[in-house]
Amino acid sequence: MKALVYNKDLPKKIELQQREIPKLQHPKDAIVEVTLSSICTSDLHIMNGMVPKANNNIILGHEFVGKIVDIGSDIKNLKIGDRVSANCETFCGKCYFCQKGYINNCEIGGWKLGCQIDGCQAQYVRVPYANMGLTKIPDNVSDKNALFVGDILSSGYFGAEMCEIKTGDTIAIIGSGPVGMCSMICANLLGASTIIAIDTNEKRLEIAKQNNLANYYLNPKNCDIEKEIKNITNNKGADGVIEAAGYSNYKNTQENHNFNPSKPYDYKSDSTLELAWKIARPNAIIGVVAMYEENQILPLPHMYGKNLTFKTGGVDAIHCKKLLQYISEGKINTDFLITQTYKLDNIIDAYDLFKTQKDNCLKIAIEK
Ligand SMILES: NC(=O)c1ccc[n+]([C@@H]2O[C@H](COP(=O)([O-])OP(=O)(O)OC[C@H]3O[C@@H](n4cnc5c(N)ncnc54)[C@H](O)[C@@H]3O)[C@@H](O)[C@H]2O)c1
Ligand SMILES: [Zn+2]
Ligand SMILES: [Zn+2]
Repeated sequence: MKALVYNKDLPKKIELQQREIPKLQHPKDAIVEVTLSSICTSDLHIMNGMVPKANNNIILGHEFVGKIVDIGSDIKNLKIGDRVSANCETFCGKCYFCQKGYINNCEIGGWKLGCQIDGCQAQYVRVPYANMGLTKIPDNVSDKNALFVGDILSSGYFGAEMCEIKTGDTIAIIGSGPVGMCSMICANLLGASTIIAIDTNEKRLEIAKQNNLANYYLNPKNCDIEKEIKNITNNKGADGVIEAAGYSNYKNTQENHNFNPSKPYDYKSDSTLELAWKIARPNAIIGVVAMYEENQILPLPHMYGKNLTFKTGGVDAIHCKKLLQYISEGKINTDFLITQTYKLDNIIDAYDLFKTQKDNCLKIAIEK
């Protein structure tokens, strides 16, 4: 079969190769024929050498839908022929962490597909613990409708869930990329009455606006975000902030962060984590979904008394069934995130486009 392989020694790090069709190795495995997959920013993190646990010479990809073509004897909730959406994480469902819903820290799982074992940017993929990791797609939900359920939609939901949104809340979302936009959709679903989208990329704000995802669309290049948020919230600040941008550029600025009790915190960095705590109201929750490529600075002495709660993490993607139900009921639609479609044969071109974000590229669907 055709498969997109990551190898750090290749000039482009990736190559389309011929590989054996995977076989069942365990009674809880399923073999899935991939009908649609996608490229994720995390695939780029692997190619950039930023994911130390990633294995070399594996097939990339962890975001996909497909059809079960073979299934292990221990799987009772699915059958051959089922159309399924896949969870980006592999998890057993039984260990201490899984029992609490913290599947990202499953004792024997976590992010495996397309990272430590062969992933989905291929014609077929072996899914371990398929009884937990695959969810049957309802009949009125197309493969395209379901493509993002197990990864970016779950991550967007995770961000919104971290903020413990109450009806009527004002939620600010930093980053209007695919994950940020999914957070906007989910924050709305969880009862936020005012959603503020923030991004430095005007085109992405426009896409959010075209899809009516927020009430305000703010670009830090054109306005003072702290002032704008104060105006919108009667000086209070946002009830919750979802950080889905992950940008900072702290080079040579450490000395600016030395604590001087007699000086107010007047240093302004371009870190989106810093923006997040500054625009939050006292006692707000900041849900950090973003993955940073450098350490971040939290000037705790300066924010002492603001009584903020920070939550961070890799997505505990435990709501796939519920999210598919919302899609089936027309409450969620993420189709607009697919800005381009490529054949698996041309996946290298798709990576080239995804990296540059040209042509308003948000997400690329890869067809078999
Ligand atoms: N926690 C998880 O499990 C999980 C899962 C998926 C993705 N992620 C992470 O979430 C983040 C978002 O993912 P994505 O696919 O939407 O990425 P993306 O890069 O497409 O989107 C990030 C957005 O942030 C914007 N941005 C950059 N600098 C900014 C600034 N200074 N102010 C405001 N906006 C700024 C960019 O213009 C872009 O639109 C990434 O860091 C990704 O690695 C985490
Ligand atoms: Zn991903
Ligand atoms: Zn587990």
